[in-house]
Amino acid sequence: MAEADMAEAAGGFELRVNGARHVVMAPGALPLLDVLRTDLALLGTRVGCTEGYCGACTVLLDGQPVQSCQTPLRAAAGHAVETIESGRFNAVRDAFLDEQAAQCGYCTNGVIVAIAGLLAREPRPSRAAVLAWLDERHICRCGTQPRMLRALDRLLAAA
Ligand code: FES
Ligand code: FES
Repeated sequence: MAEADMAEAAGGFELRVNGARHVVMAPGALPLLDVLRTDLALLGTRVGCTEGYCGACTVLLDGQPVQSCQTPLRAAAGHAVETIESGRFNAVRDAFLDEQAAQCGYCTNGVIVAIAGLLAREPRPSRAAVLAWLDERHICRCGTQPRMLRALDRLLAAA
């Protein structure tokens, strides 16, 4: 029996978050967002709409951006989860800082994680691809999208 299956059989789920293994004793239907923030004290993943619209809760699951409020613990078990705390997104974060691409900052961590996920699969995305990616997945009520795009331009220019 796989390790994750054994954990579930014992009433828990094995998670790999930012390279560290955890066994979480919680219901399988609990959103990954809640597990990250409450069980693992990883508060960088933000609680926004909790309904799959805003993208504030975005993390990478096996390298793909997912909305952790819509991802049950059961679905994340045994997969690699990466959050803003992983340190792997610092280049994107630094470009955001350089361009001051945040106002209230509530959406920012999710956008940084999502852009890092996009760049991992498409190192030089077109502007149209970036706009479509952000438009589909993220809401920024403060209107910092132009600065986010400048941050991305800065990052790509330095690559
Ligand atoms: S909190 Fe998950 S999409 Fe808004
Ligand atoms: S910076 Fe406030 S919602 Fe995006």
